[in-house]
Amino acid sequence: MDYSALKTHLAGLSMPNPTMLASGILGISAGTLRAVAEAGAGAVVTKSVGLKPNAGYPNPTVIQVECGFLNAVGLPNPGIHKFIEEMGELRDLNVPLIVSVFGFSPEEYAEVASLAAEAGASAIELNLSCPHVKGTGIEIGQNPEMVKLTVRAVKDRVDRPVFAKLTPNVARIVDLAEAAYSAGADAITAINTVRAMAIDVETFRPILANRFGGLSGAAIKPIAVRCVYEIYESVDLPIIGCGGIRDWRDAVEFMLAGASAVQIGSAIALEGLSIFKSICDGIISYLRRKGFRSVSEIVGLAHKK
Ligand SMILES: Cc1cc2nc3c(=O)[nH]c(=O)nc-3n(C[C@H](O)[C@H](O)[C@H](O)COP(=O)(O)O)c2cc1C
Repeated sequence: MDYSALKTHLAGLSMPNPTMLASGILGISAGTLRAVAEAGAGAVVTKSVGLKPNAGYPNPTVIQVECGFLNAVGLPNPGIHKFIEEMGELRDLNVPLIVSVFGFSPEEYAEVASLAAEAGASAIELNLSCPHVKGTGIEIGQNPEMVKLTVRAVKDRVDRPVFAKLTPNVARIVDLAEAAYSAGADAITAINTVRAMAIDVETFRPILANRFGGLSGAAIKPIAVRCVYEIYESVDLPIIGCGGIRDWRDAVEFMLAGASAVQIGSAIALEGLSIFKSICDGIISYLRRKGFRSVSEIVGLAHKK
């Protein structure tokens, strides 16, 4: 099949197609990132990396719920210094490598981001949106002023594209998008998980060890589509849509709402890595059927009067 209609240019990155691996799903070892690229993803995003190694929360950390998953993994990661060694093996990756970073202050985000950029990241995604770790996604990511300070601190230190990944756990996500835009973000990723919980009716206890977690998967797709649609109307930045994408139809829906690219997370657990190719094949057939020559032509079409 001719995939040239799927070529995507986003914030200075060139991707063979608009699909990306979402952060946190298979994204910490060089081997799995390479496997995802070989399976057809247009770019890969790593699991979020912080300054210091972190073991994450005790189990249970991920459970399956109606139409999705609930997780509170607690940002487990080896720390940026160890992670950089792993990245060395990815120099010849044939798609952009986006390193997701987090911190507990704007300066810490900037420190981790600059180390990732020096180590060869094609772009940096700022995880400003983890709903279950104190001091980062909640205190920083839900506060437009802190989002602005963080994006600015990172932009001052790195010369790569910077994506701000936003949380839906606020009344107005556009306030966060506008803050990121005003500080110089190159793209917006929307959305991270929706803060949620589950309770065991036999033991009367919250099921996740951390009690609260983040909901992902099909259950959050309409929330994510709404966020992308609102952000598209409020800031002039490329948007990477994420949340509940399971097939080409979902991916197209995000693009019509305004996403230039899409990230896939939870669905990989159900469908495996073949999901990237099947989404690309489905988008190609859709473009042909509707008479479009390039995937970029459908971005934001739902806004046309
Ligand atoms: C187990 C798990 C771990 C995740 N870890 C991260 C992470 O480290 N950084 C991040 O920005 N998002 C993380 N996410 C959120 C996903 O990247 C994505 O934003 C969210 O799951 C919605 O997409 P989906 O419905 O396709 O999974 C994680 C999600 C899951 C399910």
